[in-house]
Amino acid sequence: EKGGYEHFMLKEIHEQPNAISDTFRGRMLVDKGIIRMAGVDDNMERISNAKRIIIVACGTSWHAGLVAEYVFEEIARIPVEVEYASEFRYRNPVISENDVIIAISQSGETADTMAAIKLAKEKGAFAFGVCNVVGSSISRETHAGAYTHAGPEIGVASTKAFTTQITVLTLMALKLGKFKGTISNSDFHMYLQEMERIPDKVKTALESDAVVTKIAEIYKDAPNCLYLGRGYNFPVALEGALKLKEISYIHAEGYPAAEMKHGPIALIDEQMPVVVIATKKGHYEKVVSNIQEIKSRKGKIIGIVTQGDEEVRELADHVIEVPETIEALTPLLTTIPLQLLSYHIAVMLGKNVDQPRNLAKSVTVE
Ligand code: M6R
Repeated sequence: EKGGYEHFMLKEIHEQPNAISDTFRGRMLVDKGIIRMAGVDDNMERISNAKRIIIVACGTSWHAGLVAEYVFEEIARIPVEVEYASEFRYRNPVISENDVIIAISQSGETADTMAAIKLAKEKGAFAFGVCNVVGSSISRETHAGAYTHAGPEIGVASTKAFTTQITVLTLMALKLGKFKGTISNSDFHMYLQEMERIPDKVKTALESDAVVTKIAEIYKDAPNCLYLGRGYNFPVALEGALKLKEISYIHAEGYPAAEMKHGPIALIDEQMPVVVIATKKGHYEKVVSNIQEIKSRKGKIIGIVTQGDEEVRELADHVIEVPETIEALTPLLTTIPLQLLSYHIAVMLGKNVDQPRNLAKSVTVE
């Protein structure tokens, strides 16, 4: 059942190239330059006229929502708010009939996310679900939706659900952007072509496994770890930290790299590993200067870089390479080594990777 892998989590990490292509197959017609998503097509007026999109989710799905915020605003020019479902549902939020609420949930059963959707529907918003489990409660409660085609995710730590959620939401943003004219035809084509290359690039990113294993060996006993990223990769930093926390029980925090100087930089000394996502596109030079700040305080730097990078390699203690892609799609690649890093550390520490203590796969109570 684990397909020769030692744990479901590792199997699911390696399933990502297929999970991503299963998610865009049949939807993305690259030659024709169209994206078909019935749940969006059937409600195009309503969704494209949204004054605002509110994304509600928990945990890893909330991180996918944060990536989607950047993608939707960039491509479809619709303002997006990303909310923890548990906070949103209890604060008497301002919702109108012009709002579209997107619930992201792998299981489709998360109690807080479900309650947030019900609340938004009562106030007249249009509810759209991005779920993995077909026929799940959230997929039934929403007006329309688009499934991720990740296949069953058994490991409690979410991996392929995250990358397929980003895939679906990016397709949706592209579709809306094309309809609204907020993305040029040539950029639209470029995105489609590049999306089609992502599964192969994820395969290449998975080849970092040997390098990541060595790094895991060095830092497995660290009591703390920081994860930094900017732009599209800020949510990836949060996700990397969550993965490490939940399966290895090492305290980890993710931050937008520029927030360092507003507090967390005080934590940095020669004991502190800092994972910095520093891919070539998107604020690269700014991230390099953040790395310099860490280095001058003797922090240990693990850089997630674009293949062939030299500048960060000079400064960092270790680098992990991922293939180059367009900025908005980098999270699909930079996430991979972070999943592997948490996996290997947890295995080395003898933790129960697939069923970490205190956690359940779906959180059906609030
Ligand atoms: O099924 P959902 O996507 O609604 O679940 C949300 C969170 O409970 C989930 O992502 C959780 O944070 C994972 N264990 C993270 O790996």
